Amino acid sequence: MTNALRLGIAGLGTVGVGVVRILRKQAALLEARTGRRIEIVAVSARDAAKDRGVPLSAYAWETDPVALAKRDDIDVFVELMGGAEGAAKDAVEAALRSGKDVVTANKAMLAHHGQALAELAEAAGLSIRYEAAVAGGIPVIKALAEGLAGNEITRVMGVMNGTCNYILTRMEATGQGYNALFQEASDLGYLEADPNLDVGGIDAGHKLAILASLAFGTQVNFDGVELEGIQRITLEDIRQAADMGYRIKLLGVAQRSPRGLVQRMQPCLVPAHSPLGQLEGGTNMVVIEGDAIEQLVLRGPGAGEGPTASAVLGDICDLARGCRLPVFGQPAATLEAATPAQTGLPAPYYLRMALLDKPGALAKIAKILGDAGVSIDRMRQYGHTDGAAPVLFVTHKTTRAALDVALEEMQATDVVALQPVALRIEHV
Ligand code: NAP
Ligand code: HSE
Repeated sequence: MTNALRLGIAGLGTVGVGVVRILRKQAALLEARTGRRIEIVAVSARDAAKDRGVPLSAYAWETDPVALAKRDDIDVFVELMGGAEGAAKDAVEAALRSGKDVVTANKAMLAHHGQALAELAEAAGLSIRYEAAVAGGIPVIKALAEGLAGNEITRVMGVMNGTCNYILTRMEATGQGYNALFQEASDLGYLEADPNLDVGGIDAGHKLAILASLAFGTQVNFDGVELEGIQRITLEDIRQAADMGYRIKLLGVAQRSPRGLVQRMQPCLVPAHSPLGQLEGGTNMVVIEGDAIEQLVLRGPGAGEGPTASAVLGDICDLARGCRLPVFGQPAATLEAATPAQTGLPAPYYLRMALLDKPGALAKIAKILGDAGVSIDRMRQYGHTDGAAPVLFVTHKTTRAALDVALEEMQATDVVALQPVALRIEHV
């Protein structure tokens, strides 16, 4: 009887091929570390004829990932196809129903169906492991579920989408526009099959919802994430924020508040010299705050073949060693249904607008802010071009609701040339 851990891998794209490569190259190392051989038994993808740059002839080929998931000769089903619904979910459910543990990198599926899948797995005494689903190569799931298990987690925040950070930092460094840099990110293999998941903030929102569940013992609630993408950020925003000492990041924050669970993923300003401000390219950073640890900062590659496959291998090795944990750190049946916070916590905001060259224009804007209860911390006006001048404000802490009242009033004046931009400022 073999003691090998037998894998079925569905999905042979960027991540799947990376996993096959590591399993082939590091077979001896993995056996030494886990005490078992780890074997690929069968694989699946859509196109059997495609040259994927790795030898696959030694493995059985299944056209249907569900059939692969049900095979009697595998112990672990490795799902690397992607997509919240369809083949990935059907195959994962089939694997759990036929007694297989699951390893996946699929944050979309977990963000939408994490609770139901966790209940299915735990009822059968099985595991779902998903280190690669959040922040690529950074072992953040392990950090929250295991290393920090003795902490009450107070806040989790981070930059968790490599594509967005790549585009934003390269816009600043090269002065090139969004479209050229979107293409570069695509060439690096960072993008999801549907790129709107990246630039619309949805992919990062999926990751934040998963981390919030682990951190706060709540059921994954992606619908409760306040979401905004980076599509409206211009070179001008990036340059002028830099002028005020900030950088723009697609930043996720999850924390418990007296008003409920706060989960937001949106472009924010962070101090340029802070660790988050200095994060370049496709790199991710997750900041975890807990009562005993105070603050932990994890930084590393958030996407791409090697880093993501590395995280998948960490999960496979844990299963080979017999390490089993509840899917979201505590039994799924004990996870609370979280109430999303209806009103956001106050924060300072950055406001950018263009004011027409009319007497009293600035005074009108300052009065509107004052009347809405928004206090100005700093302000800068640049010279006029074509009759309008860019004006920047940094406010003291205020609520988004108060700011929205002021923004609406501003639009109704005869001094604002362009729709004002308002971005939250986060200090870590
Ligand atoms: P990918 O390059 O697009 O590969 C997807 C693979 O799944 C392809 O081999 C495809 O087959 C196969 N596939 C898709 N639908 C299928 C179906 N119905 N039946 C059988 N096979 C099917 O995707 P990826 O970048 O490797 O991502 C895989 C997963 O990892 C996703 O959940 C993604 O969100 C996650 N992830 C990716 C990264 C990254 O850096 N790329 C990082 C973290 C997490 P064909 O090749 O024949 O078309
Ligand atoms: N599209 C994702 C990103 C891949 O850019 O971060 C890693 O999850």
